Amino acid sequence: MTARPDPAAAITFDSVTKTFPGSRQPAVAPLDLEVPSGEIVVLIGPSGCGKTTTLRMVNRLIEPTAGSIAIGGVDVRRQPATELRRGIGYVIQQVGLFPHRTIAQNVATLPRMLGWDKARIGARVDELVELVGLEQGMLDRYPAELSGGQQQRVGVARALAADPPVLLMDEPFGAVDPIVRGRLQYELLALQERVRKTIVLVTHDIDEAITVGDRIAVLNTGGVLEQYGSPDDLLAHPANEFVEAFLGAERSLKRLTLAKVSDLELSGGPVVPADATPTEAREVMDREASNWVGVVRGDRFLGWVPREALDGQGTIGEIEAAPPAALVRPASSLREALEVIMNSRSSVAVVADGERFGGVVTLEKIRAGLEA
Ligand SMILES: Nc1ncnc2c1ncn2[C@@H]1O[C@H](COP(=O)(O)OP(=O)(O)OP(=O)(O)O)[C@@H](O)[C@H]1O
Ligand SMILES: [Mg+2]
Repeated sequence: MTARPDPAAAITFDSVTKTFPGSRQPAVAPLDLEVPSGEIVVLIGPSGCGKTTTLRMVNRLIEPTAGSIAIGGVDVRRQPATELRRGIGYVIQQVGLFPHRTIAQNVATLPRMLGWDKARIGARVDELVELVGLEQGMLDRYPAELSGGQQQRVGVARALAADPPVLLMDEPFGAVDPIVRGRLQYELLALQERVRKTIVLVTHDIDEAITVGDRIAVLNTGGVLEQYGSPDDLLAHPANEFVEAFLGAERSLKRLTLAKVSDLELSGGPVVPADATPTEAREVMDREASNWVGVVRGDRFLGWVPREALDGQGTIGEIEAAPPAALVRPASSLREALEVIMNSRSSVAVVADGERFGGVVTLEKIRAGLEA
């Protein structure tokens, strides 16, 4: 089930500035930023550039020196901070579970404060444990008895307990190894499909930002916003050298992980119908500079025939074809397609939607896709 975003959950930063007492430089320069409802916006930038400060001004754990923040057009100062925070889940840097409370008690923190009855709290805890991929058996354990990744999930469950429309996540996957981190990122995206929160997530990791962000805000020291855009915008058109350096090497390869085969206009490529003659097949191979030809019957891809197997008689369909290989799905990333093309003897990847033939991907198509 895909949830709809709460339209009242867009977050607007309007010339928000924070200068801590005793500091000469602002931690956050005048910041203007619009976080659309139901999207994941990632704040990224060097240590000390004001990411946590920016996040904590949303739930008023820190008050701005100047400017204003609104959620759904309503200034966050219009309601008492405690009330405001009920609508804002917060996953803090280093997880921050209560060590002497069980997992169930940790998750139930806010519902208990809100005075929910026991049955309602129990049902909600069960629901959340399922939602974030934990097991019931863990509920009576203490945080120290869970792995780092499991603790992160508990942190997310706790933040979601009262079903807030807004979720602030400060380096939520900072403390786990790269493999668990990748899985948690994937789970966050799956979770977001179901709950459609407005999420502001802080990270140091540009690949994480590219994977989970609908938009990325690149901040520089002093909370200066260097660029704000979709991951592909940033990778294709970094605004300046700072952003370019932050994005790192292999920008084109990173863009290929974002784009899907279904985004391309696919070409016919070295493919013929089963009732084509060997002469016709040879013409197609010559045109496509290929020593292999793919054979399709109706909308099914039957396999590959090499040039040497063409003997001038009958139809292509009568020649025994090598089984379908070098296949990708419409949902495959262009990076996966590139990998398949590099390993394919025909230099193309065949797009198969289940059994259905959907055209072929070539290097030229991939390059054109990046230019689009
Ligand atoms: N309570 C405070 N009093 C004074 N200065 C502070 C306070 N909190 C943060 N700062 C300063 O404000 C700046 C921004 O800090 P902030 O915690 O927002 O950085 P960050 O981008 O989250 O860094 P990191 O990536 O290391 O978590 C830093 O220079 C920090 O020293
Ligand atoms: Mg921080």
